[in-house]
Amino acid sequence: MSELLRDAAARASAYLEGLATRKVAPDRATVDRLDALDMALPERGVADATVIATLDALSPATMAMAGPRFFGFVIGGALPVTLAANWIAGAWDQNSAFYNATPATSRIEQIALRWLVELLGLPAETGGAFVTGATVANFAALAAARHVVLGRAGWNVEADGLFGAPPIQVIVGEEVHPSLVKSLGLLGLGRNRVVRVPVDGQGRMRADALPRIATPSIICMQAGNVNTGAIDPIDEICKRAEGSGAWVHVDGAFGLWAAASPELAPLMRGVARADSWATDAHKWLNVPYDCGLAFSRDAEALRAAMAVTAEYLPSVSPFRNPADYTPELSRRARGVEVWAALRALGRDGVAELIDRNCRQARRFAEGLRAGGYRILNEIALNQVLVAFGDAATTQRVIAAIQDEGTCWCGGTVWQGETAMRISVSSWATTDEDVEKSIAAMLRAAKSAGATPSR
Ligand SMILES: Cc1ncc(COP(=O)(O)O)c(C=O)c1O
Repeated sequence: MSELLRDAAARASAYLEGLATRKVAPDRATVDRLDALDMALPERGVADATVIATLDALSPATMAMAGPRFFGFVIGGALPVTLAANWIAGAWDQNSAFYNATPATSRIEQIALRWLVELLGLPAETGGAFVTGATVANFAALAAARHVVLGRAGWNVEADGLFGAPPIQVIVGEEVHPSLVKSLGLLGLGRNRVVRVPVDGQGRMRADALPRIATPSIICMQAGNVNTGAIDPIDEICKRAEGSGAWVHVDGAFGLWAAASPELAPLMRGVARADSWATDAHKWLNVPYDCGLAFSRDAEALRAAMAVTAEYLPSVSPFRNPADYTPELSRRARGVEVWAALRALGRDGVAELIDRNCRQARRFAEGLRAGGYRILNEIALNQVLVAFGDAATTQRVIAAIQDEGTCWCGGTVWQGETAMRISVSSWATTDEDVEKSIAAMLRAAKSAGATPSR
């Protein structure tokens, strides 16, 4: 056992050490080697060491997402301490559902949740849950919302479902993330029956365009537009919702982390007035996949929406049962890596990470603008949108950047215009990586025939 684990750790370390110097995207020939795995179900096994060596031979076929110059999507690399914690927790192999069965990981999760509530400036009474990602965090938080707004209308949604229930008005911004809309669909609230509020040029919901708030109602705001990073006017919308009985939810998949930075916190003004929040630790806290977080000011509402009981389950406990707050019953102990990140970074370290990535995003914008290319967004957080010319030219430049391999960025269409999207979200990105990447982008733009405007 220990030889196998030492071998795996050595291979993993070598992989990580190679990330800074390899091309970010895997090359085609390496990816094609994956075909060799696609054999018939083996009748007989092979030695464990052979299995691990076979997997490691495919390491070059991975995208270097954990490396310093991956800027596609909002994907942070795992902080070394969180990967190490993940290995320890993997060895523990706890099914972290009930305190009585898994006291260590249940307590660690509870402590990490308390720290997070404090770090993010949420109300002290807030309860939470570790789930797979923001999609499920939105699902869990909105299940709590559904429980409360229908409960106030005299309807028990967990017991009786939605057939015959009073209709809930669901308000979202025009720029709502599609995964939140999916979560609404899973909750029976419908993907198409939402009321979409117009947004401004950065994708922020326009508080002045909010419709009349009906009863019952759920309002979903966004902190961190996936293209521009813009944050909805949380304080203003919360004020408008006050007294209406509406439940106010904030999807802050990555943007909620701005609340951990004293410099950026003013953007999050009013966040503690909301009723629920969703975020991802696997994005900006840089823990390994997968780890999302659902928070509900009314902890009991989240528990009422999620808890199950059965004679064989050890539900009665002196401490919180993680599974009482999550859609999953069996679950890995995601809180361990979050605890490790917060313990290693401290409040200052988290703020420094967020601020550094935002400063690096501003530097990207400055460098590309100086190179003659158009930046389409205000750099509110860690997102940069750049156009290298018309749609076809921008697409060619993106392909050239991906192919050259110094860094990796994806494309998007922002309010009708094709753009390249740069997300700076990793602890591993140094200022030198940013300069190297800007230079590579400008070289690729030139080679792809983009004309800078001066
Ligand atoms: C605003 C927002 N909400 C939700 C999600 C979904 O997050 P996840 O992929 O972790 O489920 C994302 C992903 O980028 C996002 O940006």
